[in-house]
Amino acid sequence: MLTVTTVAALRAELGRLRDDARVLGGGRVALVPTMGALHEGHLALVDEARRRADVVAMSVFVNPLQFAPTEDLARYPRDPAGDAAKARARGVDLLFAPEAAELYPREPRVRVVPGALADRWEGAVRPGHFAGVLTVVTKLLHLFAPDVAVFGQKDVQQATLVRAMVADLDLPVELVVAPTVREADGLALSSRNAYLDAEARRRARVIPAALAAIESAYAAGTRDAAALLAAAHAELAREPEVAPDYVALADGETLEPVDAAAEGTVAMIAARVGRTRLLDNVILGVSPRIRAGGAAAA
Ligand code: PAJ
Repeated sequence: MLTVTTVAALRAELGRLRDDARVLGGGRVALVPTMGALHEGHLALVDEARRRADVVAMSVFVNPLQFAPTEDLARYPRDPAGDAAKARARGVDLLFAPEAAELYPREPRVRVVPGALADRWEGAVRPGHFAGVLTVVTKLLHLFAPDVAVFGQKDVQQATLVRAMVADLDLPVELVVAPTVREADGLALSSRNAYLDAEARRRARVIPAALAAIESAYAAGTRDAAALLAAAHAELAREPEVAPDYVALADGETLEPVDAAAEGTVAMIAARVGRTRLLDNVILGVSPRIRAGGAAAA
């Protein structure tokens, strides 16, 4: 695995890797963008990338543009040596890990403006967040010019916005959204789980449990959104220390709230456990269960 930290080195090395792969009859490049503190969720995206491309590239960049001044940019978990070891072991060919000044040599004068898809949910709680995400994703897509880019379902609003951007701005990349990888007790893997002490970690279980309550009520035939959300709130009430920012049922494409759930409706929760904000979601009727270190379970 090659590790590069500058745009110039990235372009040179990626060009070489692409040419080498072309000689062998391939040359498809996949990009997995991350903010590091890599875990099995990120590495499952690498596996997905490998299935679809000859050259697998990863970026590790804690993007200051997507953090508000009040947020956790300074304390966001960073583990460059661990990230490089994990990426190498998983078969990443090229790792791009720039400093902030490399990607933002000056205060950006231009940003990508997300549309109404960014008005609700994470966008409402974190104003400016998705403009920061879409701006850095646009930069990364231009820098790597990948054939495929792989994102996680874990951040469903982000994936939906990137999909909308790729379509609306005619970006020449195939977007793949891979299922959420979970701990054995259901908690979705997240770099921010590192903030949880043992007690908070135990409490956080209630988030996937609340989503599971929606899924079982849906499987039992309930379609009314209010009734499904009540099932989630009843579960969440078992851990009063876990404070939901929102619990919602939304259309899988528009992310607008729905009155009645159907196949493909997204059930989403954002909740604070102490100072840590956790996100999770399931797609009703279709979300597979992926366990860290294991295959899909029923
Ligand atoms: P980060 O939070 O590091 O996540 C990188 C990618 O990993 C995202 O596509 C995210 O959805 C995916 N991911 C995170 N946890 C996952 C899990 N448990 N299972 C499957 N996939 C998971 O998302 C970002 O970084 C940034 O916003 C970024 C897109 C890199 C732009 O800065």
